[in-house]
Amino acid sequence: RAVFVLCLLSCSGYFSQGEFIEDTITYGSFPPGFIWAAATASYQVEGAWNVDGRTPSIWDTFVRTPGTIADQSTGDDACLSYYLYEQDVALLKSMGVSHYRFSISWSRVIPTGVGASNPLGIQYYKNLIAALKAAGIKPMVTLYHWDLPQVLEDQGGWQNPEIATWFEAYADLCFEQFGADVEYWITFNEPWCQSYLGYGSGSKAPGIKQSGTQDYIATHNQLRSHAKAYRLYELKYKQTQKGKVGITLNISWAEPEDNSTSAAAAAERSLQFAGGWFANPIWGPNGDYPQVMIDLIGRKSTAAGLPQSRLPVFTEAEKTELKGSSDFFGLNFYSSEIVREELFDDTLVDYTTDKDAVAYQDKENWYGTASTWLRITPWGIRRMLNWIKERYNNPDVIITENGMSDRSGFLDDSMRIYFYKYYINNVLQAVQDGVNVIGYTAWSLMDNFEWERGYLERFGMHYVNFTDPARPRIPKASANYYARLIQKNGFGP
Ligand code: NOJ
Repeated sequence: RAVFVLCLLSCSGYFSQGEFIEDTITYGSFPPGFIWAAATASYQVEGAWNVDGRTPSIWDTFVRTPGTIADQSTGDDACLSYYLYEQDVALLKSMGVSHYRFSISWSRVIPTGVGASNPLGIQYYKNLIAALKAAGIKPMVTLYHWDLPQVLEDQGGWQNPEIATWFEAYADLCFEQFGADVEYWITFNEPWCQSYLGYGSGSKAPGIKQSGTQDYIATHNQLRSHAKAYRLYELKYKQTQKGKVGITLNISWAEPEDNSTSAAAAAERSLQFAGGWFANPIWGPNGDYPQVMIDLIGRKSTAAGLPQSRLPVFTEAEKTELKGSSDFFGLNFYSSEIVREELFDDTLVDYTTDKDAVAYQDKENWYGTASTWLRITPWGIRRMLNWIKERYNNPDVIITENGMSDRSGFLDDSMRIYFYKYYINNVLQAVQDGVNVIGYTAWSLMDNFEWERGYLERFGMHYVNFTDPARPRIPKASANYYARLIQKNGFGP
């Protein structure tokens, strides 16, 4: 019996802290038809920020605010993909990917945020999609990758409940214009980042620092917007276009610090506050936030003397609309954390203390990257995938981002090869555990504008020379490694 339990534990990926297995490769193939993709996002690659009718987004404003971007750079030009998209498609083709994940710039297609569409902006995405089609690559399109039209932020942005109707109209236009060729739609990319980093800590646009209040509201309105877009597609487009609509969440794996029940509960709370915050309303039993968030934030709001909970409340109709509103679970996975309980003062108003837990990384034993938050933990992705399977009834999962940064831009990027090899192998092991992973996406196709870190952190499988006006793209060794892996559809001798 003990042997059986041990085997079950190790087979499902739950080793105790300190037994992280990463240097063994399991042989095997991914299921037939597995999605192999590479990703970018509009503001990070397009450039042409004020061309052909595009108006500023919150990122255009943010990069012009002193002290926000580490190298004082902007995405004004970035990779110039607005002009060089055919080169991007050629790179994708030579890697052999089945799908390209890119995002649409809202202020390029509807410059006033709501209202008239912009034919030139629409044409750009039509051209890109046509070039992909000619290369035999299918689009996986993100509607919102953090670049809200500034004119909508001026009306409150994600704080204004009206935004759900603005977003619905924007989604409607995109479905109508591009939907015939789009198999996978992602409504929101990493809404956690938009909510907490945008309206809580303020490290990302729009740079508001109202943690514990505005971050919860931003999530509430993104979720309401997501559900509206999903239901609109279901009603108006699903039958003819036959696409799938999902959402992409970023969650770091939370490993309990020790065997104590308090550490296990704290790690679970961390996962709920990061992932369950969005996933529970969509995949949970009742279309609502996780009970642990409702309880903790309610209690702490009372302690702080507030008249109502800082966690907003969905109407019954919203819960119904949210429940089941995703055809797949998009997961962006990068890293892991070790978590322990810490009981913060209940009167504090702050998202990071609401969960009564603290997290840190093992700096001694986990390899670092150019990004402080990203340490290499291949075992974490397998545990994360098993957690999703267990919590949400084994949904289809598409890994919509995974990758690492370096500073050098060396073409011989052996560390990135190491990263992909062991992370993707752990994805294979998760598939063997029974997790319904149907696709994998590398971040990123090429070096690009890494938000508040500017061009200091390079995630690309292709090197981009940002000082050359022609923005040449050169394959790194990892691009070839990824191409071989795709060709094999897995690992073998
Ligand atoms: C997540 C984001 O979606 C993407 O825009 C970013 O560049 C990568 N992670 C790396 O930080």
